[in-house]
Amino acid sequence: MLNRQEIIQNIKDIPPLKDVILESLQLMDNPDCDITKVEKVITRDLALTTRILSVANSPFYLTSGKVSSIKDAFMRVGLGTTRNIVMTAGVLARFPSSGGAHLNHLSLWEHNLGVGIAAQKIAEVIGADGQTAFTAGLLHDIGKFVLDLNFPKYYEKVVAFQKENNCTIRNAELHIIGVDHAMAGSELARRWNISEDLATVIQYHHIADESNDLMTHIVYVADCVAKIADIGFGGDKIVAPIMPSSLTLLGISEEAIRGLVPEICSTVDAARVLIST
Ligand SMILES: [Fe+2]
Ligand SMILES: [Fe+2]
Repeated sequence: MLNRQEIIQNIKDIPPLKDVILESLQLMDNPDCDITKVEKVITRDLALTTRILSVANSPFYLTSGKVSSIKDAFMRVGLGTTRNIVMTAGVLARFPSSGGAHLNHLSLWEHNLGVGIAAQKIAEVIGADGQTAFTAGLLHDIGKFVLDLNFPKYYEKVVAFQKENNCTIRNAELHIIGVDHAMAGSELARRWNISEDLATVIQYHHIADESNDLMTHIVYVADCVAKIADIGFGGDKIVAPIMPSSLTLLGISEEAIRGLVPEICSTVDAARVLIST
């Protein structure tokens, strides 16, 4: 078993997001940000520009029409969502779905996509910010990429332990490594400076009862929904009942949640292009 300090040290050694992503996120953190400067930074990397535009043009961020430049995206969806789009594109570029040591990263991205879409639909039903919920859901399990890629020998044992004991992947991680992907992912989100709100969601998404944060509860419920709907594979197929306290906090019934499943599944089918790398 590794100790927490070793994991944190290893995460500190993970290279940051691409310079252009970091630079543009920093520029966008300034409320008086000049989007022309952001565009100049991003367009230094053509592949990334293409990816950002394809993320921006997905139906999760734009409800109608297409954008052909970063400036266009900014004019249409505002600073907060443009920042989400750049962040999502940066993480997708760092953890491509073609990669993976002991987890199938394409299946994991499918799971993440399912959680993102479920989170967006739930947020819209309860009047919360759907685009932020989509981003939080899409990135909630980034810790699994971290553990799989940075501790492959341990993760091999995690996957074997999960299969032998038919437990959750999280419990297998805690048993074999000593920390779970929620901790690893939140450390990385903080290390990458991508968003403190997102780091909180990542940290608490399996222990939502320890948090009052609305977005955390949305993502926790969305994670359950993706499993109920059998979308992708996040490391185990165990479907736990949704905690009633989360449903109460969100003000939505389990019946209403289950009623969203067909729409979530058809949206995932139409959206796979977003995660193909
Ligand atoms: Fe998770
Ligand atoms: Fe998950």
